[in-house]
Amino acid sequence: MNHRGRFGVAGAALALALGSAACAPSTQSANSIPAADAGVQAAPSAGPAPAPKVELAISEASFVCIRDMTPVRGFFVASLTGNLDATLAVANSATGGVYPVGSVVQLVPGEAMVKREPGFSAVTKDWEFFELDATPAGTKIRVRGTTEAVNRFGGNCLSCHIKADPAFDLICEQTHGCDPIPITPVMSRAIQKTDPRCPPTELTAEEAEAMKALAAFMRPPAN
Ligand code: HEC
Repeated sequence: MNHRGRFGVAGAALALALGSAACAPSTQSANSIPAADAGVQAAPSAGPAPAPKVELAISEASFVCIRDMTPVRGFFVASLTGNLDATLAVANSATGGVYPVGSVVQLVPGEAMVKREPGFSAVTKDWEFFELDATPAGTKIRVRGTTEAVNRFGGNCLSCHIKADPAFDLICEQTHGCDPIPITPVMSRAIQKTDPRCPPTELTAEEAEAMKALAAFMRPPAN
């Protein structure tokens, strides 16, 4: 909705992509960190209580070295309910589909989408958005939420992802109609390879260049 300029938003996406990987621009916890309940999310609230349902317990332990997840084209998926095949079936479908509950989708260590229970949030198609800090010690949840979730540069997750073709359940990639972000596939790969939770791995020269470009890009961010 807002047209904050794709640079700003892109920088945002970028920054959080990189967040921990490269320069971690002071993650002051002052911003908007409702992570007190890292464990179980409050019940879906209001409405004519439907059938009882299992509530997904999502904690910092739910997020792991991105390369331990399952690669799909440029991004990674996992399942918190042990239903990886169902998640992969949607991820690999040329015509899209609705991701099953428990699906975790990540392009970079610093951002995740988790498919919650039906009724969790109609407007986000039951996705919960996460902004994460990945460090060698593990994962910290900086922000989690639905319509209000923003990355550390103020980019609202939903405002971008809602533009995805409805067939693809808020998944943007590069071809589903979202506004493009200037994170190239090489940059994404470099960020994935420098996830501080993963064992070190070599960057190609091209990826190393991409990391430099990202760092430069991030220099003048918010604040
Ligand atoms: C500036 C718009 C923008 C913002 C803000 C944004 N994203 Fe994205 N996001 C994208 C685009 C575009 C892609 C696809 C990039 C690609 O594949 O090259 C993407 C990719 C992703 C993916 C991989 C799956 C997919 O949709 O391709 C996840 C997961 C994700 N973003 C989560 C988040 C979360 C969580 C937030 C907020 C904390 C967020 N994003 C904020 C635009 C945005």
